[in-house]
Amino acid sequence: MQILQVKGLSKHFGGRAAVSEVDFHVDEGEIFGLIGPNGAGKSTVFNLISGALPPDEGEITIFGVKTTGMRPNKICRLGVGRTFQSAKNFSGMTVRQNVLMGALFGKRRQSKEEAVRRTDEVLAFTGLAEMADRPAGGIPLVYQKRLEVARALATQPRLLMLDEIMAGLNPTEVQGAMDLVRKIRSSGVTVLMIEHVMHAIMNVCDRIIVLHHGAKIAEGTPEEVSSNKTVIEVYLGEMTQ
Ligand SMILES: Nc1ncnc2c1ncn2[C@@H]1O[C@H](COP(=O)(O)OP(=O)(O)OP(=O)(O)O)[C@@H](O)[C@H]1O
Ligand SMILES: [Mg+2]
Repeated sequence: MQILQVKGLSKHFGGRAAVSEVDFHVDEGEIFGLIGPNGAGKSTVFNLISGALPPDEGEITIFGVKTTGMRPNKICRLGVGRTFQSAKNFSGMTVRQNVLMGALFGKRRQSKEEAVRRTDEVLAFTGLAEMADRPAGGIPLVYQKRLEVARALATQPRLLMLDEIMAGLNPTEVQGAMDLVRKIRSSGVTVLMIEHVMHAIMNVCDRIIVLHHGAKIAEGTPEEVSSNKTVIEVYLGEMTQ
């Protein structure tokens, strides 16, 4: 089942196309990758899907509902969670309070107890239980990144969008993040991820699309995309230098 459909999606900033007539869909249960050079429009696509920005043109359908123009809180409550490229944790609050914010934001009608239970579940799931009472601003980057994921997961998404959760991590930490992404999918959540860490993307994704100057230049399995001449020319070539 297609849980996300994006058709003819375009967004301009000051006359420049950041996203240009992009089409793709994501099937339920997939880990779907969105890659491309810096400035290709990847984070803008996330902003359009999550409702942070309205598109200029195009149509977005999530779980069969047309969400184009819908407000971010409504889209979140449909079951769409996201992280931000630059971590947006509340640094003065503890790790637990940060996750609780997600839990409270995600569902309209729930008791405080329910939200607290969900918070504990997510802290354990993401390996943050030991950090729970520390101020979010004082924990190492690898945990900051995990906390971003945890806050999004606490909203109980069925589709989770991850924007460069592996950036700045060392190889062991990247491995941990890959394991977490797989575990999230196994728990029944579909994953849409942006990443520059190629071996991670190529290992965890079922399908990938490649953006360049806002336009989709390739789509396929990791094998198809990594052997695509244009993709190597505009992106992967420079990565291996
Ligand atoms: N709110 C905004 N206002 C003006 N221009 C923007 C805005 N957001 C993004 N852009 C521009 O749109 C283009 C695409 O940016 P975007 O952040 O989507 O790229 P990206 O693929 O996520 O890049 P990166 O890999 O560096 O994160 C860039 O030229 C960027 O400067
Ligand atoms: Mg980005």
